[in-house]
Amino acid sequence: MNKEIIKAESNEFQDAILRSVNHHKGPYLVDILGIDYWMFEESFDPAYAKPAMLLINNQGVEKGDEVLVQFSGPGVDARIAYENGASRVVSAERFEMPWMCSRYNTLRNNLEGSIDNRLGDLFDCVDDERFDLILANPPFRNMISEGKVESALRDEGYVTLKRFWKEVGGYLKECGRVRTVFSDVGDMDYFYSLAKENGFDFRIVAKEKYASSVRVEVAEFWRRG
Ligand SMILES: C[S@@+](CC[C@H](N)C(=O)[O-])C[C@H]1O[C@@H](n2cnc3c(N)ncnc32)[C@H](O)[C@@H]1O
Repeated sequence: MNKEIIKAESNEFQDAILRSVNHHKGPYLVDILGIDYWMFEESFDPAYAKPAMLLINNQGVEKGDEVLVQFSGPGVDARIAYENGASRVVSAERFEMPWMCSRYNTLRNNLEGSIDNRLGDLFDCVDDERFDLILANPPFRNMISEGKVESALRDEGYVTLKRFWKEVGGYLKECGRVRTVFSDVGDMDYFYSLAKENGFDFRIVAKEKYASSVRVEVAEFWRRG
């Protein structure tokens, strides 16, 4: 694979998302998979990003699952997990504007008893709780971010990714599973190696390409042994 092409296409991918999100200066109504959803400014919009939609379309929720959606942004993925049959959904997001967006949509649709949108850094807002399924679309790139919107896409030194894989097992039920999306926009080999180091096996459940060369993969993970 030509690394220069991957780099150029990944840059284009990230620039397009940043431009699209920064383009909005107020709330706007979208239709995602037939659901009316109010998006707020400064909030990552999954419709602009192929990887986000690949995970949304391949959540693997089983009826009655208790689901944690990590890195939930505006909470569309949490809402889809509920629509897919989860009995309870908790979402976690670090920044206020996307978190307020998720809360607004939950309250507006009277779903407060089913979807619990929380504000916090990774698992800081999750108590002593265990889930059947944890979904995650993390920032892909090991880069400095300038501003909150860039933080949706960038994770300097992969500090957040390392912490995610170190801690996620502690929030799973005995046979719990993790579903993620990741891409060549970041370091895919490193992503899978972190999961393995932390005791997980995995299988790829869906894949696509962005442009000619950038792989995008949804994977399911479970604790080894
Ligand atoms: C790629 S976006 C995904 C948003 C949403 N899950 C989706 O697919 O539409 C990543 C999100 O993770 C959030 N985020 C970044 N670092 C975080 C952290 N340490 N804890 C919680 N959320 C974080 C960002 O603000 C952003 O909303």
